[in-house]
Amino acid sequence: MIETKLHDDVLEIVLANAPVNALGAGVRFALSQAIENAQTDVHVRVIVIRGAGKLFSGGADITEFDQPPTGCTLPAVIDAIEASSKPVVAAIHGMALGGGLEIALGCHYRLATRTAKLGLPEVSLGILPGAGGTQRLPRLVGLEAALDMIVSGSPVSASKALEIGLVNQLIDEQGLAANAIAYARTIDAPRRTRDRRVSSDAGAFERFAAANARKIKDLDAPKACIAAIKASVDLPFDEGQALERELFAELVAGAQSTALRHAFFAERAAGKVLGLAKETPRRPITKIGVIGAGTMGGGISMNFLSAGIGVTIVDMTGEALERGVGLMRANYEASARKGRLSSEQVKEAMDLLTPTLDFDALEDCDLIIEAVYENMAVKKEIFARLDDIAKPGAILASNTSYLSIDEIASVTNRPADVLGLHFFSPANVMKLVEVVRGAKTADDVLATGMSIARTIGKVPVVARVCYGFIGNRMLIPRQDNAYAMLLEGATPEQIDRVHTDFGMPMGPLQMIDLAGVDIGWHRDTDRVESLQDALCAAGRWGQKTKAGFYDYDDKRKPTPSPVVAEIIDDFRNRAGLKRRAISDDEIVARTLYTMVNEGAKILEEDIAQRASDIDVVWLYGYGWPRHKGGPMFWADQIGLATVVQGLERYAARIGEDFSIASLLSRRAVDGGSLEK
Ligand code: 3HC
Repeated sequence: MIETKLHDDVLEIVLANAPVNALGAGVRFALSQAIENAQTDVHVRVIVIRGAGKLFSGGADITEFDQPPTGCTLPAVIDAIEASSKPVVAAIHGMALGGGLEIALGCHYRLATRTAKLGLPEVSLGILPGAGGTQRLPRLVGLEAALDMIVSGSPVSASKALEIGLVNQLIDEQGLAANAIAYARTIDAPRRTRDRRVSSDAGAFERFAAANARKIKDLDAPKACIAAIKASVDLPFDEGQALERELFAELVAGAQSTALRHAFFAERAAGKVLGLAKETPRRPITKIGVIGAGTMGGGISMNFLSAGIGVTIVDMTGEALERGVGLMRANYEASARKGRLSSEQVKEAMDLLTPTLDFDALEDCDLIIEAVYENMAVKKEIFARLDDIAKPGAILASNTSYLSIDEIASVTNRPADVLGLHFFSPANVMKLVEVVRGAKTADDVLATGMSIARTIGKVPVVARVCYGFIGNRMLIPRQDNAYAMLLEGATPEQIDRVHTDFGMPMGPLQMIDLAGVDIGWHRDTDRVESLQDALCAAGRWGQKTKAGFYDYDDKRKPTPSPVVAEIIDDFRNRAGLKRRAISDDEIVARTLYTMVNEGAKILEEDIAQRASDIDVVWLYGYGWPRHKGGPMFWADQIGLATVVQGLERYAARIGEDFSIASLLSRRAVDGGSLEK
C-alpha cells in the first residue's frame, strides 16, 4: 500500500497501490501510521511523499463510495499531514487528481515534474473535493483560479500550477526521488495552507455563477462546489471543511453522482471485449486508406491526421476529392482560429494527407476504411475491388451505419480481416466508434480495431451485426413514434422540448433536421406517402436547405414553421385521423421507453455485450445527459416496472409489430436490473 525509506534525516513515503495509487482504506491507514510514527522518530527531520509507477495518485478509491466508510477518513489523514511538526513535501509526477491533489495540498511544500498534471476532477463524478480541497486550494492559488479548477474539473499543467502558486518548484522526472529529497533538505519548517486567508472582491461568486450558468444548469455538483469555495472566504477553516463534508455526503448519495460514476466505470468496461484474451496481438497500423471524401470520409481522416498517422484518401472524381480536402482544411483552419491548433499543426496534419483518384494507391495501407453512401451493391463492389488491391493482412473496414458487415465481407476472400468501424457525425468531433464484429472477424482484427480507435482519442464500443447496430437501431422506434405522434396531434416543438428538458442536446426532429430529412427518401418517385415524402417534396430537407421541421436562420437557429404545421394538418386529414392532445407522458413512453425496450432486445440478442455498453453508445454518440447515466442505467433508476407499464399503456399506438422485450418484462417482475 505504501513503502517507506529513510534517507539520513529524510523519510520517503511512496504511495504504492497500482494501477493509479487510489487512496483506499489500506493506503489511508498505512499513510496515517507513517505520519504518526514520523512525529516521534528522532531520525526523521523532513518527510517526502510521492507516488509509485506512472503517477502520484488518481485520488480517492471511487469503488468505495457505495460502501459504508471504513477506517480513517481521507480528510483526517490529510489534516494529520498538515499538522505534522516536521515539514512534509509532495513530489508530483504523472498526475495528482482529486484526493491525490488534496494530499499534496495538505503537504507544506509541493514539487511537480514538468509533464505533471494537477486537478480536482470530482465535479465530473457529481461530487466535490471532499478532503479539504475546496478550502485549501483557494487559500493557495486565490479565488479565481480555484473556482476555475474545481468547477471545471479540468487539470492544469505543471507550468500553470507554478504560475498560480499551486506548486513551489518544478523538478526533473529523471531521479525524481533524489531531486525531491535534495529539495526537502533545504526546508526548515512546516508552512500550513489552512493558516492563509482568501481574499475576495464583492460579487466574485455571482459573476462566476452567471458566466457559467449555461454549463451548470441543473447540475448539483458545480453549485455545491461554488458554495463550498464561498465558505473558504466566509468561514474559518474548520467550519468551511465541515460544510464541505456535509455537501460531499449529500452529493455522493444523490442520483446525479451515482449516474456519473456509472458513466466513468461504463466507459472503462466498454474497452474490454468479452472472450478476447488480453494478450491478443494487434496488427501494426501506420498507414490508413479512406474511400470517399464526403463529410464522413473527411471527418474520419482528420482523426488519424491529427494523431500523426498518414492517410491516403480516394474518391471517384477530382471535384469530389477537391471539395472533401477543402472542407478538411477549412475545419482545421477554423480550429486554428479558435486557438485550438497552431498553424504548424494544421500544416503537419494536412501534409500527412495524400488525396488520389487511384484506387491502387491503397495497396500499402494497413487499414482501409470505406465511407461511401449507404448502398449495399456499391459497398460490395468496393470490397471486391479492395480484395484484389489490399496487401495481405490489411484490415478492411466499413463505416456503414446500418448494413450487414457479414454480407459486405462475403464478397472478399478474407472475411476474417473485415469489420465495421462506425463513426458518428461529425466524425472528427464525436467520440463514439461502434466497432462491429462480423461473424468471421478475427480476434486480432477486432482487438486492433478497438486499440486504433483509442489511439485516435475515440471511445470504442463493440457491437455485433444487426440493422443499425446499437445506436441507430434504438433510434428507429424513437423516430417512427415521433413521426406518428406528429400526425396524431403533437407538434415538433412539443416532442423536441420533452427531450431537451430531459437534457438531450436536441430532440428527435431537430436531429432529423441536422442529419437530413431526405435520408432514406425515395426521391425517384413522385408519390407522397409519408410525412417525410411531403417535407422532402416541399424542399424541406433540414438544416442544409434552412428548412426542415423548423425554419433556420443563418446561424442555424430553429423557429417553428407554419408551413410544416400546414403540411402536417393536411397529411392528417388525408389519412383520416382526428387530432388529439398528446401528453408529455405519452411522448416519454413512445420515444424514450421504446428506446430502452429496443436496448433490451439488443442485449437479449447479444448485439451489445453489456447494458452499460449501450449507455456508453448514447453518452458519446448522441449526447445523452451524462448525469442520467445512459438509457439502460436511467431505466433501472426509474424502475423497469414503470417502463413496462408506460409501454403497455401506449402499446396499441407504438406500432403494429410492437412487442415488449422479454428481458425487460422478466426483470420488471423479478425486480432485477438490465445489467446482465
Ligand atoms: N478509484 C478507483 N479506481 C480507479 C480510480 C479511482 N480514483 N481511478 C482509476 N481507477 C481504475 C479504473 O477503473 C481502471 O480499472 P480497470 O482496469 O479495472 O478498468 C484502472 O483504475 C485504470 O484506470 P484508467 O483505465 O482510467 O487508466 P488511465 O491510465 O487511462 O487513466 C487516470 C488514469 C487519469 C487516473 C484515470 O483513471 C482517472 O481519471 N481516474 C479518476 C480520477 C478522479 O476522478 N479522481 C477523483 C476521485 S474522487 C476523490 O478523490 C474524492 C475526494 O475529493 C474525497
